[in-house]
Amino acid sequence: MKDLMRQKIAVDQKVADLLIKQIQIESKSSANYLAMAGWCSMQGYENSADFFFEQSNEEREHMLKIYKFLADMGIQPKVAEVGAVEHDYASLREIFETSLEMEIAVTESINEIMATCKKVNDFRTERFLNWFIDEQLEEEYIARRAIELMDLLGEDQKGLFMFDERVKSISYEK
Ligand code: FEO
Repeated sequence: MKDLMRQKIAVDQKVADLLIKQIQIESKSSANYLAMAGWCSMQGYENSADFFFEQSNEEREHMLKIYKFLADMGIQPKVAEVGAVEHDYASLREIFETSLEMEIAVTESINEIMATCKKVNDFRTERFLNWFIDEQLEEEYIARRAIELMDLLGEDQKGLFMFDERVKSISYEK
């Protein structure tokens, strides 16, 4: 009976392995964003700090979504180890560029899971992942706009002050 119940709800094993890997990626992103928030706060960029505190929370929510999905599907999720986290950055630009690189990597990873779902006809996980596809569009958009804003305002003291004033108003209209 137990096997029959699992059979009914389990997702494809390859997909499950990728989702477990994605839990680690989201957890690591959350930790990285937290460290970035700390760096920004120490440098006096309080709005940028808030921006990254919020990002860190969002990444944890993403991780939880996947964690719960796996549990609901009858697959044991794993709490991920995040390893060493970078705390030292040379500049606010480096932080925002690192953020964009991270988001691009997450998008590629979600795309890989989606492609695998399509190959193995895992429609349920495909549907679940649609939310992440939309979320990545938004997160990459915001990271790119932030870098463009910094390009526009320049990186002298005044430019960075103005950037920090405006960074939290960047949003994506759905
Ligand atoms: Fe959960 Fe920013 O990717």
